[in-house]
Amino acid sequence: MKGLILSGGKGTRLYPLTYTRAKQLIPVANKPVLVRVIEAIREAGVREVGIVVGPTAAEIQDALGDGSEWDVALSYIHQASPDGLAHAVKISQEFLDDDPFVMFLGDNVIEGGISSLIRDFADKQWNSQIVLKEVENPSEYGVAKMRSDGSIEQLIEKPKSPPSNLALVGIYMFDHHIFKAVNDIKPSARGEYEITDAIQWLIDQGYMVFPHIHRGWWIDTGKPTDMLEANSYVLEEITPCLHATAAIDSDSSVDSRVTLQAGAQIVNSIIRGPTIIGRDTLIENSYIGPFTSIYNGCQIRDCEIERSIILENSRVTNIDSTLRDSLIGRNASVKRSGSKPSGIKMNLGDHSTLWV
Ligand code: TTP
Repeated sequence: MKGLILSGGKGTRLYPLTYTRAKQLIPVANKPVLVRVIEAIREAGVREVGIVVGPTAAEIQDALGDGSEWDVALSYIHQASPDGLAHAVKISQEFLDDDPFVMFLGDNVIEGGISSLIRDFADKQWNSQIVLKEVENPSEYGVAKMRSDGSIEQLIEKPKSPPSNLALVGIYMFDHHIFKAVNDIKPSARGEYEITDAIQWLIDQGYMVFPHIHRGWWIDTGKPTDMLEANSYVLEEITPCLHATAAIDSDSSVDSRVTLQAGAQIVNSIIRGPTIIGRDTLIENSYIGPFTSIYNGCQIRDCEIERSIILENSRVTNIDSTLRDSLIGRNASVKRSGSKPSGIKMNLGDHSTLWV
């Protein structure tokens, strides 16, 4: 069994953060989503992992190296342009060879890992198994129509009258027959080789495609709101821990659901969990509310923050209202302007959003 993680793509829905960084490396609860994916695959017993990379290849390779830190052997597979998930499988054929494999979208976060899925597939003689999840709004997803024997009959993209409420999650298992499919299908109307078309090809040729129904939460972190939601879920799951080198002064109050990483410093502040404060980050005269992740090397002074993600080396200083439901990139600075004339001043990157 091998693993294939898809980390190419453009990440346009996360602009401006993804102008300068791979979206899969944006941390959720202070750990990059891609590292969470690698850990889930390793936990399921898979050690040989291919990562499909695009324009952000150098950054991803720099962050993950040969994978030994997570006890996996990583191979990088370069995709010249993001021509679709089935195209990513097609260019990975040499790496995957004839082995069955699990394919995981590098920007997805799932509760409880994938060990049971992998066990399920290993026990059966199926050609493919795809992860489905019950959703409230199936018309917004790719949806599966099932046969009475439990196998999948059809996959329909964003159906007007959904045949079920079971939507496709970004995790799939395949045997080598998928290569026949990805080499035979044509690009869709949007010009991509669609994985749903490849799976439909398998079904139409009589191959056995079965579902694995996922009962926990699952989030595709494509948009900023998804990032914040994934962050909240993961923060609830992690076991809180105060690093020995973290410091809390006697004027501060830090509750039991807070994680402080190495060198974090809390001065005259209130921290309510679930929350994580990164390495060498300083929180001073501030309130940090639940569901907040502040990454490494940040300085937060004289302000209130709730349900937000702040990336490394950013500064938030002396702001009036509570900063809430916000996603702030690296090396950013948010502060009160003391100079006159008063008003709101900003240097905002392309495709940024500011709510005032
Ligand atoms: P998407 O979220 O569908 O695409 P995207 O990353 O280009 O994002 P956006 O729509 O905001 O522009 O991709 C899902 C995952 O699959 C993501 O980790 C990127 C990866 N991917 C590839 O590796 N190759 C591809 O050709 C495509 C389309 C996606």
